[in-house]
Amino acid sequence: MRPTTAVIDLDALRHNFKTIQSIASGSRVIAVVKADAYGHGLAKIAKALPDAEMFAVATPREAYTLRKAGIQQPILLLEGFFEEKELPRIIENDLQLVVHHSPQIDALKRLETDKKIHIWLKVDSGMNRLGFKVEELPQIEQDLMDVECIHKPIRLMSHFASADDPQDGFTSQQIETFLKSTKHLVLERSMANSAGILEAKAAHFDWVRPGLILYGCSPMVGTTGADYGLQPVMNLESKIMSIRNVNKGESTGYGRHWFAEKDTVIGLVAIGYGDGYPRHAKNGTPVWVNGRIVPLVGRVSMDMLAVELGPEHSDKIGDRVVLWGKELPAEKVAAHADTIPYTLSCGVTGRVHFVYREQKSRES
Ligand SMILES: Cc1ncc(COP(=O)(O)O)c(C=O)c1O
Repeated sequence: MRPTTAVIDLDALRHNFKTIQSIASGSRVIAVVKADAYGHGLAKIAKALPDAEMFAVATPREAYTLRKAGIQQPILLLEGFFEEKELPRIIENDLQLVVHHSPQIDALKRLETDKKIHIWLKVDSGMNRLGFKVEELPQIEQDLMDVECIHKPIRLMSHFASADDPQDGFTSQQIETFLKSTKHLVLERSMANSAGILEAKAAHFDWVRPGLILYGCSPMVGTTGADYGLQPVMNLESKIMSIRNVNKGESTGYGRHWFAEKDTVIGLVAIGYGDGYPRHAKNGTPVWVNGRIVPLVGRVSMDMLAVELGPEHSDKIGDRVVLWGKELPAEKVAAHADTIPYTLSCGVTGRVHFVYREQKSRES
């Protein structure tokens, strides 16, 4: 069997969840599990988090997957619904909705149902992505009051644009805008994503919405999850599938992107962009082999990549290689590939073998 594997550590996931609870001790936690739980496996991750008070996903289909898997906690659709015709199934599955623009309110007005839908009114505090502008809010509050099927009280939410940079004063501005524009409303609020949880304590409010930090990575520029007591949940691993000598001046891989500076030895590792390893990772991107970090050399192919083991190496075909995880933070790999850790785990493809690990006797 091809050895390319994502090992998912569910104990690390629960450790991270508890760490989040202690950082945001006055808040309730909405575990963000959209995009297949950031590539970790939607249902498996949600089932491993019985203490999460709510889950958040981006699409109705993700929510139905959770319900089919037996998830009973409330589920929030972070973008609400896309088409009016989806509403009956959304109600049937008891999903909560973010309402971020007026056509959604109009559709809810038209809906004929005896059920009450929990909604979160999204306020645009400056990101200019989804949400109602501050000046629209008085009218929108009024409009919502008239919609029969909406459960009252509603809840409020907003989202940060740049909380991953603690030097950026825009985060405090956004908190102030959110608070000021809604100060007359005695309603529950949610604003903090991972970065807000770690570095914007004033934004913890009633509910926090962690995504990335649940999976053990840090969104804060220049840091890793370990700096905040988090543990990586995904270990992306493979093995050396071939070893070859390369003479000084010779190249390896497509496009002749790297040339040996000395007579050396390279190892071919059974993983490539077809598995989700970033093709744009540069020469020198760290790869863990037998307890040390070696550099990626040459272009990443679809099914394999090359690392420089060096002339003195004692590695063998079949030796374990870690692309990111406990031995090598994904944040460091992401920095070499001009990307963010989010895209690494989300990008792992279906042909990678997933293995879920946890201690048999779990603490309650
Ligand atoms: C509205 C909303 N809340 C929370 C999150 C979680 O963000 P993070 O993974 O940075 O914690 C996201 C993710 O993009 C989001 O879109």
